[in-house]
Amino acid sequence: MYSYFFISILFYTAVVHANVLSWDEAYIKAAVLVGQMSLDQKVAITTGRGWANGPCGGNTYPISSPHFPSLCLQDGPLGVRGANNVTSGVAGINAAASFDKMAIRARADYLGKEFRGKGIHVQLGPAVNMMRSPKSGRAWEGSGEDPYLAGIVAAESIKGVQAHGVIANVKHYILNDQELNRMTSSSEIDARTLHEIHLWPFARSVEAGVGSVMCSFNKISGVHACENDYLLNTVLKGELGFKGFVVSDWWATHSTVQAANGGLDMAMPGDITLPTAIDIPGSSDSYFGKNLTDAVIQKDVSESRTTDMAMRIVASWYKMHQDENFPQTQLSFDQRNSPFVNVQENHRVLVREMGAASNVLLKNINFTLPIVPSQVKSIAVIGSDAGPPPNGINTCFLNYCSNGTLAQGWGSGTADFPYLIDPLQGLREVFGDTKIKSTLNDWDLHQAAEIAKDADFAFVFSNADSGEGLLGIYGDRKNLSLWQNGDNLIKAVADANSNTIVVIHSVGPVLMPWINHPNIKAVLWPGLPGQESGHSLADIVTGKVNPSGRLPYTIAKREEDYNVDIDLDQVVEYSERLLMGYKWFDHAGIEPLFPFGYGLSYTSFDYDDLKVKTRVFYDDDAKRIVSDAIVRASINVRNRGTYDGAEIVQAYLSFPKSANSPPQQLRGFEKIFLQKGQNATVEFDLRKTELSIWDVSTGTWVIPAGEFTIGIGASSRDIRMSIGFTF
Ligand code: NOJ
Repeated sequence: MYSYFFISILFYTAVVHANVLSWDEAYIKAAVLVGQMSLDQKVAITTGRGWANGPCGGNTYPISSPHFPSLCLQDGPLGVRGANNVTSGVAGINAAASFDKMAIRARADYLGKEFRGKGIHVQLGPAVNMMRSPKSGRAWEGSGEDPYLAGIVAAESIKGVQAHGVIANVKHYILNDQELNRMTSSSEIDARTLHEIHLWPFARSVEAGVGSVMCSFNKISGVHACENDYLLNTVLKGELGFKGFVVSDWWATHSTVQAANGGLDMAMPGDITLPTAIDIPGSSDSYFGKNLTDAVIQKDVSESRTTDMAMRIVASWYKMHQDENFPQTQLSFDQRNSPFVNVQENHRVLVREMGAASNVLLKNINFTLPIVPSQVKSIAVIGSDAGPPPNGINTCFLNYCSNGTLAQGWGSGTADFPYLIDPLQGLREVFGDTKIKSTLNDWDLHQAAEIAKDADFAFVFSNADSGEGLLGIYGDRKNLSLWQNGDNLIKAVADANSNTIVVIHSVGPVLMPWINHPNIKAVLWPGLPGQESGHSLADIVTGKVNPSGRLPYTIAKREEDYNVDIDLDQVVEYSERLLMGYKWFDHAGIEPLFPFGYGLSYTSFDYDDLKVKTRVFYDDDAKRIVSDAIVRASINVRNRGTYDGAEIVQAYLSFPKSANSPPQQLRGFEKIFLQKGQNATVEFDLRKTELSIWDVSTGTWVIPAGEFTIGIGASSRDIRMSIGFTF
């Protein structure tokens, strides 16, 4: 089973890579086209036409003789924003919670098809900003608190999308980890933390061949991200060797000369002044466009810089084969006028699978779950989060309201639902209407208890939402509590029914004052599962799918246990340095409620026979390591329970003391499906970067001297075996 799985990954990777040109090939083609462009033309293709001026969220100026089309840039990471007849799947945080590389690739694969089907040249995703604080408003668009996990999710997403000829856009570069003051604040960080934590997923994205990077709203060390010479030119294009183009977040361009010389290649949406309302065009001027041409004429920006900008854009376009049969853009800025193009195919199947694969089972006393429908007489379903939005789907702009079940956060990272299978509907389909009694009222606790009390099982639902801080709406979370009376509702149901099952749809961790209530027998954590929410949930509840989702963040017992909060100042200090998320909890010896990487299964797994091999390329004369040092760890995993199921085997690395690193860091994970009684060997390869720390004095990755330990287990706090090694 395992080798089949492994072979299919290799095969898939090979097919995908064959589709995309190398940067060298793309640059050769681009040189011919850009060589025919005048200065005005080169500038035109770097400039957005202005807000609401074109079919897409961002549109560049087209040119003729030579011909280069208007590029369509459109949100977002989980589906096509502002469009009809598209799939609205699981959020990025759920992709991460699946810890399933193949599923993440399959998700990206359908996203690529849908963006291409609508004629979108650039997908504005993936989002890789860290869940630095559990309150970070947009963290649900990304992958949680670990850079290694975020790096894998980003790389798989980019390869899948770009294999369909759509340019992926990794965002937001960089240190844009909270919504409060995002347009004005300055993030302050040391070089080691920058490299080992926040730059990491961008570096993996560049390795995956990403075509574009979005620079963010905030400043870094007082310099706007989109004119930050050090971060764009020195780090991104120099150190990481990024060959594609840098596009500004919308209105994150603040100058002409500094931005152009600082490394910005495309200004979006192009105009200088923000529109006064979302459907009204902004100003007609631009920091690029004529201002950029003038700056070249005045020699404040070299013409070769504009050639480089154009080369980067055109090379990305060639790299993804957009010169060959790329479909016409089929969107309209006013969604009501969009042409009818249905790109959904059967992607609902993948969304359903991904929703189940990312559902984290947090508690399951006495095998309460799964439930066999035929053996049950009555089920209670309680809470507004179980039901449909009362006014129908897509009734709030960009999901800026929490009505009914929560299946995505709010803001530009949303996509309209074609339909939404709510949990009540999903459970009705498997248990039958007649067995289910429900109330969607969160406030009438008496009624909730009445409905719960005689049921065989009482499901109680609640949620917590957040999103983009836009249009005057506060985006970050104000606290870590459940919304809509959730804690009281859960307690009322648990007091009334000794088989209570709690289901939480949330953008991130919540406090669970009720977790040890003896009547709460199971807790399920479906996160933000998208349009197939109810089906995915039913698949887990009935055991059609054995849960294997894992937490991509730490759930603490108390809010005070977290060391990072939203910074209220204009200076956002990254003073936690490397100790973000579980790295802090490990370092401080704080026991979390549920640790990073945690999640239960209906079966259980044994680990055995851990081995580690090191292969070091060491130059004796130079007395230094001259090539990637590869470490290979292998371990045998056995399904010793009574259900077939998948285990997420995780590898955590502890650096030598001399490194001054956090106690342990994720450096590998594999999802492995095992039938009951079956076992298989799982392998982890670590490259030099993964074994290195950022050496501030030399500005390079260095393998620290001393003994390493690799620990393999089922979560960051469930290491089953560990072994030391040195080079
Ligand atoms: C602002 C958001 O920060 C970014 O993620 C998005 O892609 C753009 N707006 C375009 O909508």
